[in-house]
Amino acid sequence: MCGIVGVVGKPAREVVLNGLKNLEYRGYDSAGIYLNDLQGHEYLTKAVGRIANLEEKMTPEEEGTTGIGHTRWATHGHPTVENAHPHYSEDGRFYLVHNGVIENYLELKEKYLEGVDFKSETDTEVIVQLVAKIAKDEKLPAFEAFKKTLKLVKGSYAFLLVDNTQPDHIYIAKNKSPMMLGLGDGFNIIASDAISVLDQTKTFIALNDGDCADVTKDAIEIQDYDGNKVEREAHVLDIDPNAASKGTYEFYMLKEIDEQPAVMRRLSTDYLDEAGEPVVDEKIVDAVSQADRIYIFAAGTSYHAGLVGQQVFEKFTGIPTEVGYASEAGYHFPMMSKHPFFIFLTQSGETADSRVVLTEANKRGIPSLTMTNVEGSTLSREASYTMLLNAGPEIAVASTKAYTAQVALQAILAKAVGEKLGDSAAKDWNLKQGLSLAAEGIQEIVDGKEKIEELAKKYLVPSRNAFYIGRGIDHAVALEGALKLKEVSYIQTEGFAAAELKHGTISLIEDGTPVIALINDPVTADLTRGNIQEVASRGANVITIVGKQFAKEGDTIVLPEIDYYLSALLSVVPTQLLAYYASKNKGLDVDKPRNLAKSVTVE
Ligand code: F6R
Repeated sequence: MCGIVGVVGKPAREVVLNGLKNLEYRGYDSAGIYLNDLQGHEYLTKAVGRIANLEEKMTPEEEGTTGIGHTRWATHGHPTVENAHPHYSEDGRFYLVHNGVIENYLELKEKYLEGVDFKSETDTEVIVQLVAKIAKDEKLPAFEAFKKTLKLVKGSYAFLLVDNTQPDHIYIAKNKSPMMLGLGDGFNIIASDAISVLDQTKTFIALNDGDCADVTKDAIEIQDYDGNKVEREAHVLDIDPNAASKGTYEFYMLKEIDEQPAVMRRLSTDYLDEAGEPVVDEKIVDAVSQADRIYIFAAGTSYHAGLVGQQVFEKFTGIPTEVGYASEAGYHFPMMSKHPFFIFLTQSGETADSRVVLTEANKRGIPSLTMTNVEGSTLSREASYTMLLNAGPEIAVASTKAYTAQVALQAILAKAVGEKLGDSAAKDWNLKQGLSLAAEGIQEIVDGKEKIEELAKKYLVPSRNAFYIGRGIDHAVALEGALKLKEVSYIQTEGFAAAELKHGTISLIEDGTPVIALINDPVTADLTRGNIQEVASRGANVITIVGKQFAKEGDTIVLPEIDYYLSALLSVVPTQLLAYYASKNKGLDVDKPRNLAKSVTVE
C-alpha cells in the first residue's frame, strides 16, 4: 500500500506525477511531491485526495531534475495535508517518502527525538527527523546517517530520501515493502512497481530486504546497512506498456472482466500442450505429489479462488487440501501433517499477510509454490516455486481476471499432479476443452452485459443490502460475488452457504431484498431451489445464475454448460458485472473504491 516514485537526472515533475497516477491503485487518500532543480530551488506540494488534486495545486514553475512523490493509503494519522508525504526534517534539509509501517516509531521518537517539533501524526516523520538528528549530531554525510537510522528501525518500508545539500542523489532502502529500481539512459528511477514507470524504462533491479542504495543519474551503489557493497542483477521486463492502459474503457474493471476469455486461452496455451497434457515444471509436480496435505493460503479474492481450488485438488489429486486466511495462519500456524505443501495464491505477490506465512514455512523447511500475476514479486522470489498467472497487469482495485486465472491455474496443476499420481479422473479430465469452453462461455456472458446492467440498476442500486447464496463451488463463488459487490458498490452483501440462511440470517430477508442464487452443482441444484423458495416467499427479489443443464423457466441468467469443477470460471463473471454496474450506476469510482488499496503490504 502507498505508492512511491523517485527520479534523478531528468525533468522529474511529469515522470513522478505519471508514475503516481499509475500507482494510485495502491492508495489514494492523499499525495505529495518534492522537486529540486539543483540550482537552489526546491518545491514541496501536498494535497488530500487524488493525484489530480495535487496537480491542480502545483504552480507552473515547480520543476526539478530530482523528484520524489507519494500516493498514500493512510495507516498512521488521518488523510490530511500534514500527514501526506513527503515528510521533512525540522532543519528543512531532508525529504522522505515511505511505503510501509514503522513498528517502533514511538520508541524511536521518545528515545532520540525529544523536543523535536513534529508536523504530522505519522510514523514516517520520525524517520526523517531521526536521519537529520544523526547527520547533525554525528556530523555524518546523508547516506551514512541514513544507514545508521535504518539499523534502528523495525518494520516494513520502502524509503526514498533526498538531502537538499546534495540534491543530485536519492537514497533508498527496502524491507518487506516492494521497490523496483529502473535504469535509464542518463537518469535512474525508483518505483513501487515496475509497471508504473514502464514508459521510462524496461530494465529493472529488484532490491532485496535489507538493501539500501545511493542513486544518482548515472550511478547506483547498493549496500547493506553496514556499508558492504551488494551486487544485484538487472532484468529486462517483457511487459507490453499498453497492457496497463485503459484504452477506450471508462474503467479498468470492465476492461479486465472483458479480458478473461483471452486469459483463459493464454493459460491453456502456456500450460497445456497440443494434446491437452499439462506443461508444468516437473519439480513442482513432484513436490506436490509427495505431499500428504496441501495447504492453500491467501487473502480476499485470492482466498475465494483457493476455496474453489480446494475442491479441485481433492477431486483430481486425492490429496486432502485445506484453505486458510493467511492473516490468521501467520500467527496461529495450523497443525501440520508430516509432508505438507503450501500454495500461496496472490495476484500481487506482495500481500504482507501471506508473506508472514511464507516466512514461517521457509523457517520450517516446508516446500511452497506461489501462484502470482507479478513476476519477480516478493512471494514469488521467496517461495520454492512460482507459477505465473499470465493475466496481464490488473489495475482495478477489485480483482477479476486474476481470480479466474487462479482458478484455471489450480485446475492445471491439479490435473498434472493427479496424472502423476495415477488418478483416473485427472487423466480423463479434458481440461483443454474445458478452458476453451470457459473462454467461449465468458465471451458469451460479457457479450450479454446490457441485461446484467439492467438487473444491477433495477435490483441492486436501490438496495442497502444483498445476499449471494450457493452450495459447493457455488458457495465459494457466492463469497467472491458478495465481496466484489460490497467492495465497489458499498452495498452490504453477505455470501452464504445456501442452506445456512435458514439457521439465522433469513431474519434479514424482507420485501425487495436482493438474493442472488448460484446453481451449478449437480448434487445440490434441487436443494438450492428449495432455499430460493424460502427467501422468495419472504419477499426477496431473487436473481438466479444457473448452468444451462440445470436451468428452469424463469431463471434470470443462464450460463453456457461447463464441467462443475470449472463452473466458477463462468458463474463468477455475472457477479463481477453486477458489482461493476451497481458501482457505476451509483456514480462511484469503480476502480478506486474508498478505503481500499490494491496491493496490501501491511499486516
Ligand atoms: C478484492 C481484492 C482483494 C485481494 C487481496 C489479496 O477484489 O482484490 O481481496 O484479493 O487483497 O491480494 P493478492 O491476491 O494480491 O494477495
